[in-house]
Amino acid sequence: MATQAEEAKVSERLPLSPEQQALLESGTLTDRAIQARPRPYYAAMRAGDPIHHDKGLNSWLVTRHEDIWAVQSDPITFSVNKGYHEIQARGMHDEFRNYLREHGGGYFPDAIMSDPPYHTRIRKLMENAFTAHRVKELEPRITQVVHDLIASVADRGSCDAVTDISIPITIRIIVEQLGLDPGIEDKISRWSRAVVAQISAMQSRDEMLANAAEIADLQNYIIGKMKERESDPREDMISDLVHAKVTNEDGTVERLTFEEAVSLVRATLIAGNDTTATAIGNLFYVLTTKPGMAELLESIVDDDRKLNRFVEEHMRNEPPVRALSRMCVKQTVVNGTTIPEGAHMLLVYDSGNDDETVFPEPRKFDIERPNLGRHVGFGGGPHRCIGLALARMEIKVAAREIVKQLKNVKLAIPESEITYVPTVATHTIESLPITYDKR
Ligand code: HEM
Repeated sequence: MATQAEEAKVSERLPLSPEQQALLESGTLTDRAIQARPRPYYAAMRAGDPIHHDKGLNSWLVTRHEDIWAVQSDPITFSVNKGYHEIQARGMHDEFRNYLREHGGGYFPDAIMSDPPYHTRIRKLMENAFTAHRVKELEPRITQVVHDLIASVADRGSCDAVTDISIPITIRIIVEQLGLDPGIEDKISRWSRAVVAQISAMQSRDEMLANAAEIADLQNYIIGKMKERESDPREDMISDLVHAKVTNEDGTVERLTFEEAVSLVRATLIAGNDTTATAIGNLFYVLTTKPGMAELLESIVDDDRKLNRFVEEHMRNEPPVRALSRMCVKQTVVNGTTIPEGAHMLLVYDSGNDDETVFPEPRKFDIERPNLGRHVGFGGGPHRCIGLALARMEIKVAAREIVKQLKNVKLAIPESEITYVPTVATHTIESLPITYDKR
């Protein structure tokens, strides 16, 4: 039960217009039109019902910045383990798990999507593969990959910014970092979508089975690679994860089990892939649709401090990850709303980043916002994105190379024809045809 202090703390609700009222009554994030253009729905929730029960999803949407922080900072009451594993293959859990046991080398629960104290141990072990030092060292190589990819389409004058540039960049980089085989890129794109689809709450049974077949294929592939690295370690992330160990204060040494390591290689491959590709796709979107953005990027591209702030404001303004799950393990009052025990919740990051009480004029792109680093595009608390340094580096290098190699970048279709991948988890453009001149 909530304490008196918790029940007493209720921030202001604002009056809603009749349209907003109707939107809250009939709207749902499962509606593809709302998924594609969700801001009016978020604004109505933030104003009048900030932790709103979405009937279509049967999930509580946490939409204000302060409430997202409160929930993500309390991993005991709001469980990632239950939130993630229960939503996976919604309603078809057993069939999904059995399929992977039969065809995919096993069902490996995602070890990082867990709760403390187990999560704390896994996270420490996983951080071995993501040191800041390692990421900084990657800059020249990432620049080379991004440079070559953009150069390969620069002469054409037109391409699809999502499928020809953004997705190949992030896949190529993660393939190299993990130490996978060149040529595996096409499969990785399909595998990523299949994993993300399990938490999207949008699958039919046939789609779930088709996606499970992709995940089985992915697991069989990474298990093969991990076995190779067990006996023959190299300078790559798979080797780091397979051999990860930490020495505790009492001198005991902890290692990952093979099952845990499989789940972490899979998580690294997927988590950093669609998300970063979405961020770069969104960058092309804003450069081609928002007046002044291309000029702004051009004017700051050689100023490292400003470019870092540009990337961060982009993460606030167009966050690739829309919403991730929690489950409330006991009835709890959050900012005046009673969340029942066992209720499913979504932290709606792209609404939190638009919270006008924290970010005045939230739709304005302003790299001089004093509190720009408070955005929740990478989450926060104990589950904060582990790959954020790598993601920031990839987006920054992409921004730099776009300006250096291309000019007059324009959208080749009307903005209203842009379509989004059907999922509540990310806000991902499916295809973005553009035209440009080579610089
Ligand atoms: C722009 C790109 C990215 C975005 C927007 C993003 C966003 C996020 C968010 C919002 C979370 C919090 C999850 C939660 O609290 O439930 C998260 C966690 C995570 N991210 Fe990222 N991410 C990005 C790139 C990456 C990359 C490049 C990697 C690795 C290669 C990565 C690996 C992870 C992992 C393993 C977690 C789970 C951490 C934990 O639970 O302790 N992400 N990410």
